[in-house]
Amino acid sequence: MKGIILAGGTGTRLYPLTLTVNKQLMPVYNKPMIYYPLSVLMLAGIREILIISTPNSLPLFQQLFGDGRQWGLQFSYMEQPHPGGVAEAFILGRSFLDGEPACLVLGDNILYGDGLGGLLQQAARLQQGALIFGYQVSNPQNYGVIEFDQAGRVLDFEEKPEFPKSHYAIPGIYFYDSQVCDLAATLTPSARGELEITDLNRCYLNRGQLQVEVFGRGFAWLDTGTHESLHQASSFIQSLEERQGLKIACVEEIAYQRGYISSEQLHRLAEPLAKSDYGSYLMQLVNGNTYQTIPARVPVLEAI
Ligand code: DAU
Repeated sequence: MKGIILAGGTGTRLYPLTLTVNKQLMPVYNKPMIYYPLSVLMLAGIREILIISTPNSLPLFQQLFGDGRQWGLQFSYMEQPHPGGVAEAFILGRSFLDGEPACLVLGDNILYGDGLGGLLQQAARLQQGALIFGYQVSNPQNYGVIEFDQAGRVLDFEEKPEFPKSHYAIPGIYFYDSQVCDLAATLTPSARGELEITDLNRCYLNRGQLQVEVFGRGFAWLDTGTHESLHQASSFIQSLEERQGLKIACVEEIAYQRGYISSEQLHRLAEPLAKSDYGSYLMQLVNGNTYQTIPARVPVLEAI
């Protein structure tokens, strides 16, 4: 499976922050926002990744990430001249995907939770149909929303409904089989002039090929679209990182733990960052100065 990060858009809700800087380059506590969706793809075991962004911002991502070899990854880049909608990723990404299944992750989405890596790895084995997720939120009208019947079966989706039919929003991570580019090519722009990801998901639903999994309340799916939510996301990451002494979405750490890079390579990556807390964390990893980690297990719950 290949991965796509959609990192364009206008970021108007973050103005004036994003007047000149792409939203996905904004800091979420101690790292650029795009590190979070990138780490999600890495946790899923996906190493061939297309980054789609605006003509102005794409060179900045290229400067930040290069070809990805330093992290054992392979990056490709593609311009999106105008924000034509989330599903446009599969019009632009057709030749990159070259008939392979895909995971699309939105550049401004942050996911965090125990067991997320295992769940994503399983999702990345998808060969047929599509898999998307639901997450309970207090403000569903700001997202794509799932409509369920009484038995909890998915009936339909709505994009930013004024009167949402449930409190289950659809996070910006989607797994699709190799039909995805052909199905995306059948979409027409919505009233707001975008190729909507909800319409693509409806195509799969109507074909009986859509699976929806719900993230439980132990998962965090954070928004970063407004000043308030961006600040909250930073605080969330800061609180957890400080409490545990572990970094979230540390792409170098994931690459090292997955065996994509050696400790010598990790050392070379850490050196230029050494004056920052992030860099000294990497140095600790190189030197093996980390705490002993015992696999998480709650035997009482397993017995139930
Ligand atoms: O965050 C999840 C939500 O993302 C879903 O629940 C919605 O169904 C989906 O439409 C999308 O809604 P948003 O209103 O959050 O989409 P937004 O326009 O903010 O774009 C999401 C990200 O994708 C953002 O980082 C910018 C990028 N993007 C978006 C569009 C429309 C692009 O790079 N190009 C685009 O054309």
